Formats: sequence, structure tokens, C-alpha cells
Amino acid sequence: MKKCLLAVITVMYSCCLLAQLPQPTDYLPASFHKGRRDALRALMPPRSVAVFFASPERNFSNDVNYRYHANPDLYYFSGYTEPNGLLLVFKEKQSAGSDTPYDEVLFVRKKDARREMYTGKRLGTQGAKEKLGVGLVLEGSALKQFPVDLKAFDHIIYDGVKDLADDYTSNDDIYDLLNVFKEKAGFGGYDDQAAEQYTKLVAYDYLAEDDYRPRVIAGLRESVKQRPALANDSLFAALLAAKDAAGMRAAFDKIRTARINTTMYSQFTNRLRQIKTPEEMELLRKAIDISSLAHVEAMKAVRPDMSERELQGVQEFIHKKLGAEDVGYGSIVGAGENGCTLHYETNSATAVGRDMVLMDVGAEYHGYTADVTRTFPTNGRFSREQKQIYDIVYEAQEAVFAICREGTSFSAIEDTAAAVVARGLMRLGIISNPADVRKYYPHGCSHFLGLDVHDKGEYDVLKENMVITVEPGIYIPPGSPCDQKWWRIAVRIEDDVRIDKQKMELLTNLAPRKTEDIEKVMQQKSFVDDLKISLPAPKKGF
Ligand code: GLY
Ligand code: MN
Ligand code: MN
Repeated sequence: MKKCLLAVITVMYSCCLLAQLPQPTDYLPASFHKGRRDALRALMPPRSVAVFFASPERNFSNDVNYRYHANPDLYYFSGYTEPNGLLLVFKEKQSAGSDTPYDEVLFVRKKDARREMYTGKRLGTQGAKEKLGVGLVLEGSALKQFPVDLKAFDHIIYDGVKDLADDYTSNDDIYDLLNVFKEKAGFGGYDDQAAEQYTKLVAYDYLAEDDYRPRVIAGLRESVKQRPALANDSLFAALLAAKDAAGMRAAFDKIRTARINTTMYSQFTNRLRQIKTPEEMELLRKAIDISSLAHVEAMKAVRPDMSERELQGVQEFIHKKLGAEDVGYGSIVGAGENGCTLHYETNSATAVGRDMVLMDVGAEYHGYTADVTRTFPTNGRFSREQKQIYDIVYEAQEAVFAICREGTSFSAIEDTAAAVVARGLMRLGIISNPADVRKYYPHGCSHFLGLDVHDKGEYDVLKENMVITVEPGIYIPPGSPCDQKWWRIAVRIEDDVRIDKQKMELLTNLAPRKTEDIEKVMQQKSFVDDLKISLPAPKKGF
């Protein structure tokens, strides 16, 4: 009888397994996240705890939310991607509340059969223990009674929660978790918004100097006008009261050594996340390859009568076809003068027309995002003027590539790109003074890339296994003070590179950059060429 029962159970179990549809298998392993927690602990001072809250869910419309995007720091250190999570990483082993000592605890959403029926499976404590391998896993509701005395820690390494709002239908959403945590950790009148402001300032010690201090203080006073409560925060008030550089530095020091410490949070997360591990590189390469191949397909597909959104759809279809979950930032598809709007995301032109189109679109793969821009003529051939502008941007990129190696400073990159663009614009008579270069090239050349499109890192000097973008551009809107033949030309070329000791590795090499190579690719047939689909003639009224 027993044997019979066992056979039935085995068959049922196998059927269940067979019924499961295939899923990606290349997620970051638990060992990666554990390694990151260990690396964090190594940076933390004695008697400290680092705190990572999940991002809040955001409403899209009525009872529909936006796609949930995990807080990249929580994901990096735990692998947990559900809402309402909280990770505490302790410097030293703790024993309160557990028979086995632990130096990390993850609070997760509780299982809820009814809600899971609507929105999908939750890991719960058991699933999180098995899948993520964090030392101790508890439900969010257990935080209140959690026996570790958080008030006794010398440093609480903390960053607040962006865009926080209470979900009044729940008493253990992130708003509630944060409030319970603050109460337990003795936050008193601590002000998250004040901290957000001074954390940014402290990263730049030179702001204490006479050249900058009065401007900084004027800026802080302006913020207090908007939100008078800021002045009640003692650290914010210390900055406002600084009379000279020494006073301001003393206020900076107070901020750097505060018990509730946001500067350590940004320092440690910057320092770790800026250097990519082999596991991260695998995912980042995938995101970048997917995006690069999708750019090629967009080049093949474009026709002057196509809409900006149609082109966006072609690109994003290829992302999905190749396994990406989403885009890592709002897709920018700007035809003609729309390309001059740096973060143009409306993509509303119903025909791209006969100018160029600038596509800044990057896929997100398991949390890691690419950031790639290509600019190409919608009719497949660069005009003389388009090519002249394009080649300056290309030359600026090449000049930056040549210095991208360990030890190069970000300021050298910025100066190099701006100098090449300035020289090119002077040569074409578009500007007559190199200082005017910023009229047509208003943004920076490089930023870190990873879990955030503008990823965390220290903007100092390049180190091995950093991944950055190289993205000079020239934008000439109609009405610019130069010959009209240049108007409406907007070019950005954006590539992603990994830094090595002596050189760099171009990660975006699957997407052509040279004008001749782009023109060649654009002659190829596209998978949408034969797609014939249109709406029926519109009916008026009922
Ligand atoms: N896609 C945003 C940027 O290039 O920085
Ligand atoms: Mn970028
Ligand atoms: Mn970009």
C-alpha cells in the first residue's frame, strides 16, 4: 500500500515538474550576494549595521501598479527582488533571538495564497532561505519584536527610502517597516530629506572653500525656504551656521561620523558597485549584446514614414526576443530636431522624416542595464553635413577610448572629449570660440553603468573592471547662431567600455559606429519589411 502511495506521489510530482515552463537559469548565484555582503562587512566600522530597504511600489492607474523595480542595493546584497523587504548586515555576529549566531537578517513579505493567485508567487521565509542563503530570514512583521538592540550600535549605515508613500491597505509595507525601524533604532527627529542634501555635499570636500561655501550655504537657505523643517536637523543646521572653511569642514566631519550615517552608505556602495565581478560582467555583457543587436535591427528597419514609436517597438521587440526583461531607462527615439532634446522620451512623431534619428535605448537583463546610442540617417545615407558632424563625435569617442585605462581621471576624459568637439566645431565655423562648445555639447562624456543606468561609483580615477559609457554628442537645434545647413542635426554616439590595466574593452562592438559600416548595415533587409498591418478605416461616433 505504502509503495503504491509513493508511486502515485512520484507521478504527481513529475507531472508538476513537467508542467513547469522553462525559466531563465542564469540569475546571480547566492554565492555572489554573500560575497558582496562579506565585502561590505570588511568596509564597515566596528559596532555598525548597514540597512537596505526595498523600494516602494508605485501606482500606475487605479488598482494597477508600475512594473516593480527592486532597489539595486538590496538586490546587490541579497538577491531579493520583491517589494517590502529589508536587509540588515551586521559587522559582528549577533545572537539575540536565534540559537545560531548570525550577522545578517532579511525581512521578507509573508506568503499569501490569495494575493499570490493575482500577482504571482512569493518567496516567503522558507523560499528566501533556500534560494538566497541569507543567514536569518524573518517576516517583515517580526521586525517590531526583533530582539537586537539597534539603539546600541555606534553606526547605522543608512540611506532612507526614495518616493516613500504609505500603502494604507497594509500594515507591513515599506512605509511601516521604515517607521518601525526608525523607532527601534532611535532616529528621533532625524530628517531624511536633510540627509539627502548634505550627503551629496560631503562627497566634495572642496565645497568648504571660500570660492564655493557662500554659494552652498545660499543653496541650503533656499531649501529651508521651501521646507523650513530642514533647519531642525542638527547636521543641516551646523552647515548653515558655518562661518568659514574650518567651520564647514567641522560640520562635514560631524556628518561623516554621525551615528545615523548616510555618507558611509554612499561611500561603501559606491566603492563596491563600481568594480564589476565576473558574475556581473556576464549579465552586463548580455544586456549590452542584446542592445547592440537590437540597434542593428533598428538601423535595418527604419524608413522615413515610420513613427518614432514603431522604431522603438522594433528595438524593444529584439530586446525581448533575446531575453531581456525590460529597458533600463526610458527609450529615447528622437528624429530630426527631437534628437536635440537630450532625454526625449515622448517618441511621438508619427513619421521620422528624412533627417537622422537618434536612438538611445538600452536593455535590462536580470537587473543590469546597457546604455547605447546610435544615430543614423533615416534614408540610409549620411548627407555631407550629417557626416561632418558625426565624424567629429566619432573622433571625440576615439580620443577618449585611447586614454581609457586604469589611472585615467574622469576629468581627463571630459576634457579630451570637449577639446575634440570644440576643435571640430571651430573647423566647421559653427563656433568661433572654443569656450562655446557647451552650447552644442552640453552634457558629460562618461558615467558608470551597471544596476543603475547612471550607476554608483566614485568619479575620481578609472580602475580595472569599472564599466563606463563614452558618449560625446553635438546637438544643433533650429535657430542656432550658425549656418542653417547645420540646423536639426543631432548626433550622440554612446558606447559601453570595460576598463583594463593598460587599455579598455569595447563592449558595444556588435553595433556599428563608423558611417560606412552603418550605411552598409542599413542596406540589409529587415524582419519588419514584409509586415503589412493597418487599422480599419475609422468609424465616427457610435
Ligand atoms: N541614457 C541616458 C544616458 O545616456 O545617460
Ligand atoms: Mn549614458
Ligand atoms: Mn544613453
